[in-house]
Amino acid sequence: MSAVPEPEQQRLDALLVEKRLFPPTAEFSARANAHDPGIYARADADPEGFWAEMAEGLRWMRPYERVLEWDPPHARWFLGGRLNVADNCLDRHCEGPRRNKAAIIWEGEAGDTRTLTYQQLRDDVARCANVLRSLGVARGDRVAIYMGMVPETVVAMLACTRIGAAHTVVFGGFSADALRERIRDAGCKLLITQDGAWRRGRVVPLKASARDALQGVPGVARTLVLRRVGDRAEPVTIPGEVDWHEAMTGASPLCPCEPMDAEDMLYILYTSGTTGKPKGIVHTTAGYLLGASLTHRLVFDLKEDDVYWCAADIGWVTGHSYIVYGPLANGATVLMYEGTPDFPERDRHWRIIDRHGVNIYYTAPTTIRTFMRWGADLPARADLGTLRVLGSVGEPINPEAWMWYHEHVGRGRCPVVDTWWQTETGAIMIAPLPGLVATKPGSATRPLPGVAAEVLDEGGQPVGPGGGGNLVLTRPWPSMMRTIFGDDDRYVRQYWSRYPGRYLTGDGAKRDEDGYFWLLGRVDDVMNVSGHRLSTYEIESALVDHPRVAESAVIGRHDDLKGQAVAAFVTLKESSEALSGEALKSELRAHVAQKIGPIARPDEVYFTAELPKTRSGKIMRRLLRDIAEGRALGDTTTLADPAVVQHLKEQYEESEGA
Ligand code: WT7
Repeated sequence: MSAVPEPEQQRLDALLVEKRLFPPTAEFSARANAHDPGIYARADADPEGFWAEMAEGLRWMRPYERVLEWDPPHARWFLGGRLNVADNCLDRHCEGPRRNKAAIIWEGEAGDTRTLTYQQLRDDVARCANVLRSLGVARGDRVAIYMGMVPETVVAMLACTRIGAAHTVVFGGFSADALRERIRDAGCKLLITQDGAWRRGRVVPLKASARDALQGVPGVARTLVLRRVGDRAEPVTIPGEVDWHEAMTGASPLCPCEPMDAEDMLYILYTSGTTGKPKGIVHTTAGYLLGASLTHRLVFDLKEDDVYWCAADIGWVTGHSYIVYGPLANGATVLMYEGTPDFPERDRHWRIIDRHGVNIYYTAPTTIRTFMRWGADLPARADLGTLRVLGSVGEPINPEAWMWYHEHVGRGRCPVVDTWWQTETGAIMIAPLPGLVATKPGSATRPLPGVAAEVLDEGGQPVGPGGGGNLVLTRPWPSMMRTIFGDDDRYVRQYWSRYPGRYLTGDGAKRDEDGYFWLLGRVDDVMNVSGHRLSTYEIESALVDHPRVAESAVIGRHDDLKGQAVAAFVTLKESSEALSGEALKSELRAHVAQKIGPIARPDEVYFTAELPKTRSGKIMRRLLRDIAEGRALGDTTTLADPAVVQHLKEQYEESEGA
């Protein structure tokens, strides 16, 4: 059923039997933000009452009239309420003792640092908001942001929210084509980018890609360009471009926050689904902000003086919810780092924690596994004594990585919170509250208060302890996506039609006898490569776009480091030509990187004369996974021609052996 390989499955099973349990220490529990175990039952008995109580933590410009209107599968939260996200993240903190508190401590890849207090960040955001207005952006418009890990990206996002424009941040690792597709789909009016981004001492030419992306996109009349790398950037001109620094220098730091409706769109974030076209996930104002801020405060047990670091990129939802909106709404000090963990040396993260006294650290299992490979002596050499809570996100964390993280980074003192959620859920859904819930390595434990989850079989019945099934969420929640931008039918079909009234996550899961959830990976054609979500169809379309490719099938094969690696099976148009051409393989890999972005580049390309298909012509990816993971072939009886897959397997084994 799932893409989880057999050995991993066995390890999980073994752990379930062993039942290793890490209860919170009495000391941690006593001081924890969530310390009353009754919170779960209270939320369960009256979810709307619970959310209403939690929503008191937001600053409202006008109180709401109704907590929830649930017309499945469409939800509206906090109806009639008005508020502004930038006001909640900045202005309200500037009215009290947090005014001169560091909002962002930023470290550039080269080691340069900048600190922005809440007051300074508020002023910059207001200036930028005025710049956006002067460039014709108004409430309800969409703005694309194609930038790296610099404070200005946060400024740009919050400036949009201040004037009621929705942003769509496009990860800087995406290609010009991918950026164009998103700008078009969202109907953006303005693009904000930077000349280049630093990556391992080299420049990622964001502006050049932005220029290419804008070819044939007449809707974007202006582009705001931040100078980050200066002379090191390719000299590129974009028609109608405006220099960030020049514009900001002349702009007023006064800009009132637009009173937004609770249900006004806050942002669109594109994510890969099971078709070739990325989905524009729509999040709205009040519910999203509540979900992001509440979970950030409770799951990471944020304290007023903490330095909090989420090592994700701002271009993904983790960056949106847990670098920007959650932490800033909570008045936290956010550490932000521009570069990669191995620059200039492989101890960069430990040095950053040491240098800035980081208390909470949040990263992905793939990064933890990379650290494991680099060796425990690197974290051992740094002072990590300030760490108090460790988080994991993006993919199932294997128990070995969990244990390593706990021992070598947390030194056995820090709770590890494995946080399960998705772009669609907006905020963490399944994770331990570290003062209340005993953790088990490899389990995200239980749904947060107010969240209801189940594991269902194909017939829609809950699966008992130990059995696998589809993970669903059975109740609406404030930070849930509202729709897919421009395609509400797809929203209904994709998430709510499999089990009417219940949200289909696309993940497989099982529960143990304590009711804990164990995530088993995607059950659909979505891959998870290094915590990045990729669609098999998107990569297949990119491959078929190459003039020499007739057909392709892409699968995620288990990879010890990345979770999954991309394997592409390709049939060429002229089968007579040399099939094993290494040059063509690299060309195809480069082609995918150019069409989508380097993250989608296949790790392996295999040429084959035919692909295994059912009689109705559907490619059987399951069999390709069996082949690529070296398993015995599963059921081949539905194949049109069983010989094809047998032949492919032999061919594959030959090329692996070579
Ligand atoms: C998919 C969502 C949510 C932020 C980053 C990814 C997988 C995410 C976990 C976890 C097991 C996880 C799921 C999910 N996933 N966190 N803690 N344990 N799996 O966001 O790109 O929307 O991907 O990532 O498969 O469906 P995303």
